[in-house]
Amino acid sequence: MKINGNTILITGGATGIGFALAQAFVKEGNNVIVCGRREHKLKEAKSKLPQIHTRVCDLTKEKEQEALYNWIKSDFKDINILVNNAGIQRMIDFKRGISDLTAGENEIDINLTAPIYLSASFIPLLLKQKESAIINVSSGLGFIPIAVMPVYCATKAAMHSFSLSIRHQLRNTPIKVFEVIPPTVDTELDKGARDERGQADKGIPPVEVARATLKALEKNEYEIAIGMAQNLRMGARNNPEQIFQGINQ
Ligand SMILES: NC(=O)c1ccc[n+]([C@@H]2O[C@H](COP(=O)([O-])OP(=O)(O)OC[C@H]3O[C@@H](n4cnc5c(N)ncnc54)[C@H](OP(=O)(O)O)[C@@H]3O)[C@@H](O)[C@H]2O)c1
Repeated sequence: MKINGNTILITGGATGIGFALAQAFVKEGNNVIVCGRREHKLKEAKSKLPQIHTRVCDLTKEKEQEALYNWIKSDFKDINILVNNAGIQRMIDFKRGISDLTAGENEIDINLTAPIYLSASFIPLLLKQKESAIINVSSGLGFIPIAVMPVYCATKAAMHSFSLSIRHQLRNTPIKVFEVIPPTVDTELDKGARDERGQADKGIPPVEVARATLKALEKNEYEIAIGMAQNLRMGARNNPEQIFQGINQ
């Protein structure tokens, strides 16, 4: 896959991994659009990287997702890469019943439903291009779950499964389907829960994820497991029980 001259939508691209990808893609000479819910984060991103186009959009709201699609379809006709990156992560204790599940945002809507619907909307546009891609950001935790974040891990396992299926469905088309599988990355993803858990490992910087992703895109490596996520991906095949026990002590 060529890594320059593309027109790319990165969901959740104003912060963390998405912003690192935006920076790396801009540096290579791509046209980059990012979206997210918080306008001030989009403005901050634009002030650091003036070349990007920004759009406020809550991907869990059907009308906002539709408006994003219509805007891109009319103003960025050569869109050829969709990066499904936006996500949230929550600790949920099912011993507390439904109240803990509904006390925060719905991870299934953001991490799974939104990328599936976006993919379905954008695929007809991507099919018109000579070479195009869908890049799904899953997680090492989609391969071996950490039990305090049961819904998060389930959405990421589902994103892996979805990536396999659409890659197969699209195999004879111009659309390549990549899956980025990050390890722990130093971002605001879990809004301080790592500190709450006393987790010492803050993870790798997001720029490392971006660097590994662009390198793999160029080589058409479709499953891009980065750092420790490689152990979880392989461990899920070779030694799942022991690794599950190890990370859930
Ligand atoms: N950090 C890690 O350790 C790690 C590890 C493995 C995988 N990942 C995955 O990497 C991806 C990026 O996460 P990150 O670590 O870079 O964290 P992050 O900085 O919090 O990025 C998440 C982005 O998603 C956006 N977002 C959340 N809900 C949204 C919604 N409803 N509509 C539109 N945008 C929404 C957020 O912006 P707004 O809040 O402004 O909407 C934010 O920009 C996620 O899919 C995450 O699961 C992260």
